[in-house]
Amino acid sequence: MMPLNARRAVYPGSFDPVTNGHADVIGRATRMFDELIVGVAVSTPKQTTFSVEERLTLMQRVCAPYPNVRVEVFDKLLVDWAVRNGTGVIVRGLRALSDFDYELQMALANRKLQPEVETVFLMASEECTCISSTMIKQVAMLGGKVEQFVPACAVAVIRAKLAPG
Ligand code: COA
Repeated sequence: MMPLNARRAVYPGSFDPVTNGHADVIGRATRMFDELIVGVAVSTPKQTTFSVEERLTLMQRVCAPYPNVRVEVFDKLLVDWAVRNGTGVIVRGLRALSDFDYELQMALANRKLQPEVETVFLMASEECTCISSTMIKQVAMLGGKVEQFVPACAVAVIRAKLAPG
């Protein structure tokens, strides 16, 4: 088997919507890897609020400042998509102990499916540990300000979709 590239990583997620937490992981991963491919998942266990086009557009705006990042939609098994991109690394963010079980299950399943691909975890920055996409959607739906939780380029789209009245 051809060795997979450890200098190129994929960062997959639902990004429903993208948050400062995701942007923080992306910013740090761009300094660790030569190339980062952000994967907006079509197939997630969650019912998404934002369409795949909306999630892709927001993520493209967030990644625009980084010359070594590209954003793609993927609708395959994560490990198959990673291998197709010639990468040996999946990046995921970890916020709190509560993320651990889910992430461990996913990492172990992915390793069984494709032992050549490693999952690497980046600890969320302190100011991002309380942020989640679900929390942001709830705040927006109840008319609260989301500016402090999401990248500036995402605010209007989130408000247009979710703000009351
Ligand atoms: N800071 C803040 N929040 C963070 C964060 C960070 N660093 N990292 C994750 N989060 C939050 C997100 O906001 C999100 O919140 P929510 O639960 O309220 O929606 C949650 O943690 C995780 O979302 P996200 O990072 O978008 O990823 P995900 O768990 O939805 O992604 C996939 C799951 C897409 C990677 C997985 O379903 C997948 O691989 N699908 C493809 C099909 C496949 O291969 N399946 C088998 C996998 S074993």
